[in-house]
Amino acid sequence: MKILITGNMGYIGPLVVNQLRASYPDATLAGFDIGYFGNCITSTGVLPECRVDVQYFGDIRRFQAGILAGVDAIVHLAGISNDPIGNRFEEVTLDINHRASIELARKAKAGGVTSFVFASSCSLYGAADDAARTETSPLNPLTAYARSKAMTEKDLEPLASDHFTITSLRFSTACGWSDRLRLDLVLNDFVAAAVASKQITILSDGTPWRPLINVKDMARAIDWALVRQQGQGGQYLAVNVGSDEWNYQVKELAEGVARVIPGVDVRINKDAQPDKRSYRVDFGLFRKLAPGHQPTVSLTESIEELKNGLEAIRFQDQEFRVSRHMRLMVLTELQEKGLLNEKLQWAQTRSSNE
Ligand SMILES: NC(=O)c1ccc[n+]([C@@H]2O[C@H](COP(=O)([O-])OP(=O)(O)OC[C@H]3O[C@@H](n4cnc5c(N)ncnc54)[C@H](O)[C@@H]3O)[C@@H](O)[C@H]2O)c1
Repeated sequence: MKILITGNMGYIGPLVVNQLRASYPDATLAGFDIGYFGNCITSTGVLPECRVDVQYFGDIRRFQAGILAGVDAIVHLAGISNDPIGNRFEEVTLDINHRASIELARKAKAGGVTSFVFASSCSLYGAADDAARTETSPLNPLTAYARSKAMTEKDLEPLASDHFTITSLRFSTACGWSDRLRLDLVLNDFVAAAVASKQITILSDGTPWRPLINVKDMARAIDWALVRQQGQGGQYLAVNVGSDEWNYQVKELAEGVARVIPGVDVRINKDAQPDKRSYRVDFGLFRKLAPGHQPTVSLTESIEELKNGLEAIRFQDQEFRVSRHMRLMVLTELQEKGLLNEKLQWAQTRSSNE
């Protein structure tokens, strides 16, 4: 088996590679990434890319079909990965996340790939704190990022066939340790603040709902989706990935961190405006289809692994919200240095001049 993992040099990618290496020791694993966050290493061990058999550097917007020779399955992670970047680079986000993803899927189908797994997001439900959203609930994407995921799902569905299984995994918000840690995710932010300053400031009133999932459990879901039979969910499947117990209110997350890290002060902004990103999600379909691949990591374990990892790299940066641990900050800095152009292409490549 040969598996191509796009976007493998981000936050989730290293965990996906570890998971697939463990499940399929004889498989050839290839990575494809533009390398925006190549320098944002938070491991003390080897470069995560040493665990793939081949690493391609390139822009998914200019993907060469030749890379697909012999590829059986694709895990498509490459993309602009949060709302702040999507708001700042709206057209680029739609181009990378939607147009280039559909083009990749078309090339994959034509090239004989049999399984395509797309990293979608529960954020496409929009505000939804009244009742937990199921896969048949209406979509209400509120941001360019969420819109890009909804558009991609819509255009992926008709490409699925008897020989080309497509799975859109609507992930909860990720948390947990990675060799390329991001701190622009709610739980990771809280643990970093607790470790660096013993203080967590919640920007909302603490009541918004957020479904979360540990990155290791995301990787296990991807493993399931890659080899699922069409009897489990059909040619095309969009499924919420997470677990009902992991629908937390933001203040519960902060309190969880304060339980694990003694002496942390939690401050809540009681006057905050209602948070439009509050949503709860129903994970019943995923439970039914993938009983052997349900999330296993607990909230406490996630907090502990983050705390231990941050302590191992001697993390003390109280200003981390304006640091290279934030995806938007990295891209902004690369642009300011003239290394990325306005389309987020590397300025020194041939394609950036075309
Ligand atoms: N982290 C989460 O909470 C979460 C939740 C739901 C879905 N997802 C999705 O999972 C995927 C991976 O998320 P992540 O947290 O690892 O994000 P990330 O930003 O850490 O990684 C994304 C990777 O994609 C690469 N990439 C971006 N544009 C590219 C391009 N034009 N060509 C080639 N590579 C490109 C980046 O260099 C990066 O390595 C994303 O599609 C994201 O939207 C993430």
